Order: sequence, then C-alpha cells, then structure tokens
Amino acid sequence: MQRVVYTQRGGLEAIEIVEEENPIPQSGEVVVEVHRAGINFADLMMRQGLYQPTPPFPFTPGYEVSGTISAIGEGCDTFTVGDRVLALCGMGGYSQQVAVPSDRVFKLPDEIDFDTAAALPVTYLTTYHMLKFLGNFQPNDTILIHHAAGGVGTATAQIGKALGAGIIIGTASTAKSDFVKELGMRYIDREAEDFVSVCKSETEGKGVHHALDPVGGKHLMRSYKALRKGGNLYAFGGSSAVRGSKRSLRAALGFLWGMPKFDPMRMMSSNKAVFGVHMGTWPDHEILKGHMEELSKMLSRGEISPVVDKVFHYTDVASAQQYIHDRKNRGKVLINFRSK
Ligand SMILES: NC(=O)c1ccc[n+]([C@@H]2O[C@H](COP(=O)([O-])OP(=O)(O)OC[C@H]3O[C@@H](n4cnc5c(N)ncnc54)[C@H](OP(=O)(O)O)[C@@H]3O)[C@@H](O)[C@H]2O)c1
Repeated sequence: MQRVVYTQRGGLEAIEIVEEENPIPQSGEVVVEVHRAGINFADLMMRQGLYQPTPPFPFTPGYEVSGTISAIGEGCDTFTVGDRVLALCGMGGYSQQVAVPSDRVFKLPDEIDFDTAAALPVTYLTTYHMLKFLGNFQPNDTILIHHAAGGVGTATAQIGKALGAGIIIGTASTAKSDFVKELGMRYIDREAEDFVSVCKSETEGKGVHHALDPVGGKHLMRSYKALRKGGNLYAFGGSSAVRGSKRSLRAALGFLWGMPKFDPMRMMSSNKAVFGVHMGTWPDHEILKGHMEELSKMLSRGEISPVVDKVFHYTDVASAQQYIHDRKNRGKVLINFRSK
C-alpha cells in the first residue's frame, strides 16, 4: 500500500509518497481501507511546523477517513470485513490503509457516501462541540464565524441553522461572498467592512452570543469585542500564523506577539467567556462519541450536509494543499486514496 509522508518541516516539497506493507491490526484495532481522507487546515500548519502537538518528522498526517474495513484485530467483533465506516484516526489518515482503535470507527448507513462521511468528522465535531457543548447554545443565539466559506465555516452555517440560530455573520474572501450568502449567512467582506461594527449593528448594538475565531493573534481581541455581555469567544486556530505554502517566520511571530492577554476582572464585569478549543487534545472520547451520535441524527434528518468542494487523487496531495493555501476552497477538500 502507499501513504503520504511529510518528510520534514517545510513547503509542499516536503510531501512524498512511500510504498510499504499493509498494516496489521493490534488488539482492539481495525484496519480501514481508505477511500477518502479529509484535509484540515491543521495538516498544512503541521507541515510548516506551526502546530502543536505535531508528531516528529517523518510522519503521515490525516485525522479523518472513510472507507471499508479490511482487517480486524482481537476484540473487535462488532465489525466485519467490508463494513463501510468513517474513522477518527487521529493521525495517519493520508494513507491507502490505516489501523485505528475500534472505538474511533463508526459504521455508515447505506445512504451516506464516502465523500460525505470523510467531510463530516473534524469540522462538524468542532463546531458542535463549541456551540452546543461548551457554549450552551440556545435558539435565536447569534454567531460570528471567520473563514465562513471553509470547512468549519460551512459546518457552522448548517449546525447554527439546525439549532435555531438568529443571525449568523460570516467573514470570508471577497470572491466567496455569494457562496456565504447562499449558506444563509450575513456576509462580511473583511477588506471593506469592520466586523465588530457589523456584529453590533446587526444585533441592536449588543453584539453576538458566540464568536468563533480560528485566526488568532490580535484578531482574537476584535472577536472578543464583537461579543455581547454574556457572550462566548472560542479561540480555536491560528490561521494568521500562515502565509502561503512556505513557512513565514514573520507571520508566525506576528501571530504570537499579537495574542491578547485577557483580563479576568474585565471578563467578570462583562460576563464574557473565552474558551480555548483543540479537538485533537480533547481528552474525553465518550463526549465526542455523543457528539457523533447527535451529528448522525442531524445528517439523517437532512439538517446538515457536508459541502465537498473538490476531491484530489492522493498522488496530487500537494496541489490539494496548494488549493487551500490559495484560499480557493468553498467547503471541504478531500483526497481519493483509491488506485487510479
Ligand atoms: N481547534 C480545533 O480543534 C480546530 C478544528 C478544526 C479546525 N480548526 C481551525 O479552524 C480553521 C478552519 O479550518 P478548516 O480545516 O475548516 O479550514 P478552511 O476554513 O477550509 O481553511 C481554508 C480557508 O481559511 C481561510 N484562510 C485564512 N487564513 C489563511 C491562510 N493564511 N492561508 C490560507 N487560507 C487561509 C481561507 O478562507 P477565506 O480567505 O475566505 O477566509 C481559506 O479558504 C483553521 O484555522 C483550523 O486550524 C481548529
């Protein structure tokens, strides 16, 4: 079988494909023959050495896959070879086969195709975890989301609507304005409008209940200012540390230096909360399983439906990542791990 490897920290030249023996499942594991793997922005940051935690190089990235079971380890009797599944593999998903602990593997109903399944886990789990689990989301709550046209952005539009959100305000690149509006959001062109002012003006001067900020750096404080009293800020990414496909020390340092220090006294008087969110290090797997159950109900009711922009063949992973670096994606980008 073949898998993608990041050979070292770097640009797209650090991506290679290697050939090796099929994995053998250990006790408690199953092997998934991968049809599709999801690309997450974190994969790009890991390649540039801008993400924590990142395994030592060389390694194979990939948090999420869909495919069929090809081998079964001891104690995994609920699975049969050929079962269609999605898996939260944690790492190693950019591969034709990957061994995964069986409690991170979920059987797919017949009507869910492999594209939909691979596009769902990370982005939808992240949004659901923030809004519903951490944020105690209530009907008519209002949302600000940045990168509104991307993977997490499209998931937020759909989950927000399913939970009965009031206005959902989304920032994105200018070329994606129509797409963001079609998703039912109030689009903000971040070059032309001040998102803090828009959040206030669209909420009778109060601000939003939930601000989802994957940008980080000094941008975080602006998202905090867009909150109403009692609102929640979720700091869940650092996209401002990235500039293009090569690592930019300047961008990375700008991100770190710009990071705000929140003052608990002021937070008390305004009743605002700041959550740090990292699904990769979230310790309680049972909670995530509960989220997955809720999301699969929403999927079967037709309330959510992952938006897949493009599927690249695994021999073209560098182009797939370049596509995201170029900010072209509308929704999720996947990798096809079937032979050509
Ligand atoms: N903490 C967690 O557990 C967690 C989980 C999932 C995702 N995240 C974070 O959430 C964000 C979105 O993740 P995603 O996987 O759904 O990705 P995505 O939004 O599909 O990522 C690509 C989009 O990000 C925007 N962007 C902003 N800065 C960029 C840059 N320097 N280079 C390229 N694109 C940039 C671009 O959209 P516009 O230009 O249109 O804004 C681009 O189209 C990322 O920051 C990611 O790390 C965090």
